[in-house]
Amino acid sequence: MTDRYAVIGNPIAHSKSPLIHTAFAKQTRQDLHYEAILAPLDGFITRVNDFIRQGGKGMNVTVPFKLEAHQLATTLTERADIAQAVNTLKFENDQILGDNTDGAGLVRDIIVNLNMPVTGKRILLMGAGGAARGVILPLLQQKPALFAIANRTPEKALALQNQFTQYGQINAGSYNQFSGQSFDIIINGTSASLNDALPELPPGIFATGALAYDMMYSADPTRFLKYASQQGAKHLADGIGMLVEQAAESFYLWRSIRPETKDIITHMRSN
Ligand code: ATR
Repeated sequence: MTDRYAVIGNPIAHSKSPLIHTAFAKQTRQDLHYEAILAPLDGFITRVNDFIRQGGKGMNVTVPFKLEAHQLATTLTERADIAQAVNTLKFENDQILGDNTDGAGLVRDIIVNLNMPVTGKRILLMGAGGAARGVILPLLQQKPALFAIANRTPEKALALQNQFTQYGQINAGSYNQFSGQSFDIIINGTSASLNDALPELPPGIFATGALAYDMMYSADPTRFLKYASQQGAKHLADGIGMLVEQAAESFYLWRSIRPETKDIITHMRSN
């Protein structure tokens, strides 16, 4: 029988996950069907339980249900527990395993696809919301030389600094606080690009040869990437690679097979 998987969110119509996972299944010859499920804002748990009853094997979870998915899981991976958010559910033996593959997806995109080591680099993470929180642990595990979190509301960055202190040293504060410093990898984990806005970065923040990475993606370069280019960042990347890599990591959790990602990333860039 064909195994069933789905992505659940609200809205969900524009999700690229069905396309990505269907391509992964074809490539790895896995007999599975992957669909998109729109859940009402107050109906996440009901929809997940319906899907489990129908024999569903696993789900990806997207906005705005990642926190609810974290609460629903009966077992959590360390990275999901620390992120306090779940983007991947696996249903097995009456258990609901919750994982978070977002950070691993970002790190793999930077290291493998963009060929930029994180170890020993100076990293600036912009933002202190759910998206930023999810990538902190996997980045710290790479042992950067320096890890900084800047946020418009500095208190939120300081709260993350306290929370993650046992995993590595973090400098946290407002954007201005990093005036006079430069970084090798600057990651935009804010939602500013959604509104074509730009956090107020101090000048000189991009070191020579720097990578500017926007976790968001859009048909045209985001405002952050345009700014980074003007400011001399050498490498620019949007969130498509991360999107495909987090999907590959979910696929691996479900099927124990890691799909090749290069072709699908190229395909999505050209469409
Ligand atoms: P998400 O789950 O996408 O991370 P979120 O939890 O609401 O969404 O967090 C949004 C992040 O983007 C926050 O860090 C927010 O900064 P504040 O904490 O100061 O609100 C940041 N953000 C959104 N719009 C921004 C803008 N125009 N300039 C700077 N930061 C912005």
